[in-house]
Amino acid sequence: MAILLDGKKVAADIQAGVKEAVAELARGGVVPKLTVVLVGDNPASAIYVRNKARSCEAVGMGSQVVQLPGTATQAELAARVDALNADDGVDGILVQLPLPGHLDPFDILCRLDPAKDVDGFHPRNVGLLQIGKAALRPCTPAGIMRMLDAYAIPLEGARAVVVGRSDIVGKPMAAMLLHRHCTVTLCHSRTRDLASVTREADLLVAAIGRAGLITAEMVKPGAVVVDVGMNTLTDEAAVMRFFASDAAKLKTFREKGSVLIGDVDYHGVLPVAGHLTPVPGGVGPLTIAMLMQSCVTAARARRGMA
Ligand code: GUN
Repeated sequence: MAILLDGKKVAADIQAGVKEAVAELARGGVVPKLTVVLVGDNPASAIYVRNKARSCEAVGMGSQVVQLPGTATQAELAARVDALNADDGVDGILVQLPLPGHLDPFDILCRLDPAKDVDGFHPRNVGLLQIGKAALRPCTPAGIMRMLDAYAIPLEGARAVVVGRSDIVGKPMAAMLLHRHCTVTLCHSRTRDLASVTREADLLVAAIGRAGLITAEMVKPGAVVVDVGMNTLTDEAAVMRFFASDAAKLKTFREKGSVLIGDVDYHGVLPVAGHLTPVPGGVGPLTIAMLMQSCVTAARARRGMA
């Protein structure tokens, strides 16, 4: 039976460290501040943004949400980003993705001051990560690395398979694991015979956004399995397939008409894996904790502090 990787606990430890660092900065008269730019009224984004503001408060940092209507133009959004770049009181800028379809995210990410890019999405930071020199790195894979270290998971020489090639998780995850001397394979929706690749993995990171894609027969016995997925199941047959024996999930489904599921068939994989992250309570809390950490890193670096 797999040992559960407790993302909540690791995130709490990260937040405690950030809180101390913020207090230290405050003694020198510096209060790091994060600004989140939210365009439109995507309900999921609104929840994420609210949680980010709350976390800033919890560690003693300043926060601000710049809300633009869903009809905002590229020029209007660009002008806001320019103003935040120029505002010396802002240490971190996060443009919540996805943007409404008529806006070009790449143009906006390129416009961010790389020193304030706490997501690590600006091409300069992406490039620095590839050569192992980024200070500001994408928060989800950076959080996963912290969790793997917290559990002393051996990485050097390990076979790591990342499923999903997004710019936010899959690609930076592969780079980070490579820098820690894993042998990395990056799989995606067009990978042939995915199971034959994932079965080779000592460390399997699922970040493709497909409910329960990773099943028990795709996992090598004893492997470390990290589930980045956050999918919603509304179909009763699918809920029964994954959660027939899970009273709590079935209750949630009856009450809400939907349940949250990762990219891993949790109950199927649990008896096979050596370590496994739950959903929720695995990777999710780490992302926000690392965002706080990145704000402190940006605040220090902008002032020439180590
Ligand atoms: N939307 C989903 N995840 C993220 C993230 O990590 N950063 C930003 N900016 N938007 C997101």
